[in-house]
Amino acid sequence: MKYDPFQEKAINYINEGHSVIVSAPTGAGKTAIAEHVINQCMADGTRVVYTAPIKALSNQKFRDFQALYGDDVGILTGDVSINAHAPILIMTTEIFRNKVLAEEPSLGDYSWIIFDEIHYIDDYERGTVWEESLIFLPGHMKMLALSATIPNIDEFASWIHEIHGRPLKVVKEEKRPVPLHLFYQCEGKFRDDLRKLKNSFTGRSGKAYYYRRGRRFVREEHLKPNRLDTLIRHLESTSKLPCIYFAFGRRRCEYLAEELQGFDFLNTHEKADITSMFHSLCDRFDLLKEKSASYIFPLVERGIAYHHAGMLPTLKEVIERLFTSRLIKVIFTTETFALGINMPARTVVFDELRKFYGSFHANLKTRDFYQMAGRAGRRGIDSEGFVYSRVNPHMITFDELRRVVNGRPEKVISRFNASYATIINLYSRFGEKLYDIYPRSFHNFQKKQRQREKAVEGMKAKVDMLKQLGYIDEGGVTRKGEFAGQIYGYELPLTELYDQGYLEHMSEMELGILAIATVFEPRKGARMPKISRQARQMRHNTDMVMKGISRLEKRYGVTPLSKDFRYHLSPCIEAWMRGEDFNKVLTYAQADEGEIIRYFRMGVQILREILDTPAQPSFKDKVRSASRLISRDIVDAENQLRR
Ligand SMILES: Nc1ncnc2c1ncn2[C@@H]1O[C@H](COP(=O)(O)OP(=O)(O)OP(=O)(O)O)[C@@H](O)[C@H]1O
Ligand SMILES: [Mg+2]
Repeated sequence: MKYDPFQEKAINYINEGHSVIVSAPTGAGKTAIAEHVINQCMADGTRVVYTAPIKALSNQKFRDFQALYGDDVGILTGDVSINAHAPILIMTTEIFRNKVLAEEPSLGDYSWIIFDEIHYIDDYERGTVWEESLIFLPGHMKMLALSATIPNIDEFASWIHEIHGRPLKVVKEEKRPVPLHLFYQCEGKFRDDLRKLKNSFTGRSGKAYYYRRGRRFVREEHLKPNRLDTLIRHLESTSKLPCIYFAFGRRRCEYLAEELQGFDFLNTHEKADITSMFHSLCDRFDLLKEKSASYIFPLVERGIAYHHAGMLPTLKEVIERLFTSRLIKVIFTTETFALGINMPARTVVFDELRKFYGSFHANLKTRDFYQMAGRAGRRGIDSEGFVYSRVNPHMITFDELRRVVNGRPEKVISRFNASYATIINLYSRFGEKLYDIYPRSFHNFQKKQRQREKAVEGMKAKVDMLKQLGYIDEGGVTRKGEFAGQIYGYELPLTELYDQGYLEHMSEMELGILAIATVFEPRKGARMPKISRQARQMRHNTDMVMKGISRLEKRYGVTPLSKDFRYHLSPCIEAWMRGEDFNKVLTYAQADEGEIIRYFRMGVQILREILDTPAQPSFKDKVRSASRLISRDIVDAENQLRR
């Protein structure tokens, strides 16, 4: 493979011994640069850390790198730990941040850190993790940062230069190697010129009709509908399959797949191929008897699939592998399919140009639109990629539509908001001087005076609260504080329970229930199932503790508030820990199977974090066995990765 000029430029900087940030569109070939760093480290006998923002991506990189570098590759993601001292170590950015803050000596041997998808620094909830990792990056580590297209990359690089006193070389690539063509389905018609759509938004062609909304009658233009079958037939007849169809919502993905009942994209030969692939993969991942696997098979056999977070992680993996074979012609999926994972198609379809941004729905950012759209057109196979947006003028204005597809990608903005655990770890290093850290932040570099003051006030509020609760005193961080310093994200709720002696008296079962209640976040309107007496008793106790915590947080003005314990999955975890079959466990709550597994794995992660605290060894034994009771069969993430 001959390197592209931008790849070459980055590689030259790396060879000269510089840290580098690369901003390039989806699918441009950023991985090749990361591989160069890895090869160089292997040749020099040094070590390299690779971080990715989501577990699916870390897992895929683990498999990819393992194929290239064998036993030299390891992975640490909180619920998975394989070959943890390997010279090429993949981890989530959270784990890296924790190691950096704790000044872990093990990092001493690692000379490079690769941050993939570093534009995540702009993520509302998790962005601070990237920022903290960068502020405290050990002096001996060089970094390679890979980013989607961002306009303020020079600003970002100046910040790094300022705080580390070493330049961060910038490499920008604007062009996609495979060009994208944008199309729209609007009022049932296909168009490739945005301007021609404008009529649909103003002088509408169809008849007006009235419908009732509450007590009022609303005038509504009658638009010709966008039909799914018309769209798919159009893509098929113009040779634009395979396609990734992004829809926002799990049910919607499944529903749309069912809508294609009348379609069959595969000939006899291809059917035989995909059937045997499907069966051997299901065998490998223990899915032969799974209902969800037999449910999706009739679709798969015709070249159709869906993929979303509600599915079993193993079944998702099967579908991903089938998709790579290009025998799946249409896949309906949520946005998780968009990130970094090498799953290219010829065409990308947007069901609508909206997305759920953690706590609210909004029209897509331009950056996100192109991240997803960029899945279209695979280098080496397709000469161009196609993007179809289904547009309903009732749902989006013309100006917004234009902003999404023609706007400039948004700047990355600092989301700095150090958690309690971060504050505690900083306090143990810097004491009252911890506020001196703030001027090193991207937040300080980017924001105005007033916002800076507010950020420092936010840190102060947390410190004051930690002092009042006895996590920090004149002597520095207390034992209680040390406990909290290991439990990122759930510091106060769990530490207060620990401090009151409640945690150490729990049975394994209770520890399991508590771990899941710690992490579970019910969907809006989720029904609370009937829970056991044991769980009710626990809820009574934890509610009391939470009341105290949130009262204090409100008084000190801390945001976001600590998360409440939620017991919706307690019947499931009890049954699972008693050894019941997963299919039985599913019947005890209203949640998707993939969701339950994800929460169980997160619970295991919390229990593992407790093992790093200064708690009693006998208590840790109990925690360990609780975690073993949960992490079995289909819930065991390591097991899935080893297959
Ligand atoms: N110089 C090159 N010539 C031909 N193909 C290349 C070259 N560089 C990379 N590729 C191929 O391009 C594809 C996409 O590369 P890669 O996964 O690195 O994209 P990326 O920039 O990381 O995008 P993203 O992470 O946003 O999806 C891969 O299949 C890779 O093999
Ligand atoms: Mg990538």
